[in-house]
Amino acid sequence: MARIGIDLERRIGTVDRRIFGQFIEHLGRCIYGGIYDEGSPLADARGFRTDVLDAVRPLRIPILRWPGGNFVSGYHWLDGVGPRDKRPRRSELAWYAEESNRFGTDEFIEYCRAIEAEPYICVNMGSGTMDEAQAWVEYCNGTGNTSWANLRRANGHAEPYRVRYWGLGNDMYGGWQIGNMNAHDYVKKARAFAMVMKRTDPTIQLVGCGQNGWSEWDEIVLGGLAELVDFHSIHLYTGTRDHYTTVFSSHQAERAIRICAALIERVRKLQGITHPIHIAFDEWNVWYRTRSHEDRVGGLEERYDLTDALAIASYLNGFIRHCREVRIANFAQLVNAIAPIFTDAKRVSLQTIYHPLRLYAEHMQAVALDVHVAGEAYDLSPAQEAASVGRIHHVSDLGPFQLLDAAATCDEAGRRLTLAIVNRERDRDLAATVDLGSATAGARPTSGRSTDPTSRRRIPSRRPTPSTSARAASISAGHASTTRSRLTPSRCCICRSPADAASAAQRARPGAPAGTA
Ligand code: AHR
Repeated sequence: MARIGIDLERRIGTVDRRIFGQFIEHLGRCIYGGIYDEGSPLADARGFRTDVLDAVRPLRIPILRWPGGNFVSGYHWLDGVGPRDKRPRRSELAWYAEESNRFGTDEFIEYCRAIEAEPYICVNMGSGTMDEAQAWVEYCNGTGNTSWANLRRANGHAEPYRVRYWGLGNDMYGGWQIGNMNAHDYVKKARAFAMVMKRTDPTIQLVGCGQNGWSEWDEIVLGGLAELVDFHSIHLYTGTRDHYTTVFSSHQAERAIRICAALIERVRKLQGITHPIHIAFDEWNVWYRTRSHEDRVGGLEERYDLTDALAIASYLNGFIRHCREVRIANFAQLVNAIAPIFTDAKRVSLQTIYHPLRLYAEHMQAVALDVHVAGEAYDLSPAQEAASVGRIHHVSDLGPFQLLDAAATCDEAGRRLTLAIVNRERDRDLAATVDLGSATAGARPTSGRSTDPTSRRRIPSRRPTPSTSARAASISAGHASTTRSRLTPSRCCICRSPADAASAAQRARPGAPAGTA
């Protein structure tokens, strides 16, 4: 029996809801045929697929990153504003496609408003110039009598968009990126961009282009941009054909956060920087199946299974554990391309990875608590990692790993607790005791059905789903101090109230005493 200990007095920090952010790129069918589908009977007057909107809204996305990704390094934003029929159709060199430009800045802002997300725009630092980036900020946020602000007005948008978050290029270190460069050249160019963008609107927040959080690139870029940026970005994709390497790979994200946070602390101390710099983990996901040239041209339409969903839940637990450092995270990507939401001409489907994203966004609360898990551990060997096929990140040195991974949050008043537990054991149920320590808590766990309003057909996974479970249990503080919780296979469980929890507990284990499940 594992023991999950939660100390309600040990608060790690505030969970920034921006960690539930998402990312859309002009890639395959993410935008065209995904969120935007002009002429489809499922689209509204704006061209937005309403069935996709219905699936997107429960994800409660606080911040949406756009337009890339690799795409942005060849994108000229001016192509995508003004009358749609007059917009140029261009070669799109990042993903070997053609870009119609029918979805551009105004459509993106409209989409953000429709889902109540803050826009986050990444500028083109590949083929783009600092004048273009400056003009983009002025088009979006300008309030004066300038040609760029007036162009926005002429396009029907009198009020400034007040886009607060701006990324200084994407993956500029990578050989695959249009206009890639070395770190010192990037710093020089990014400083020039940052200056004119900030002078145009001093209220904007800038995201420097990091790599994996712990590379030489990250160190040089932080050293060169610290005085100008509010965030440093990290990207990470994980996943292999092996269940255990996949579910434990999110520990690489936590390693990256720890090291990046140390680099940030160092540079702030050395340079006497007083403003905070946080991590924007602005691309993350399981992505290893669709990596060939054909897959890229085909739009990265990866199919996900339960193992992947457990990995996603483990990532989210890690972001919650590191809530002081990670203030933005953008899941890559939202629709069709390595995505939780999948469309065809007639319907939308939800992939396995949709469910943890929704559960966490819906239930996680404002304050992260320190959680201790003592139970069965899995010793991932370097040989097992090396033998797996996919993206290998070598995390075995961080093990052995607890098979149960848990994160807990409570509200400010400490009256309501939400506990997320991920059972990463492939084949078996695991039993656990949840110990709330000295708190006098009415801890009534646990199982109950999620009331997901979006009922969708399932996408078949390409491998058998293992018998494991991701579970989020909402426990309301009040009377008992300890809860016992038995994790059952292949279920996602949520309870919304103590009453729900108690009855669900009885359903789960008929005859069990109140307060156990
Ligand atoms: O999300 C897919 C791609 O992954 C993005 O375009 C790029 O930034 C990263 O390499």
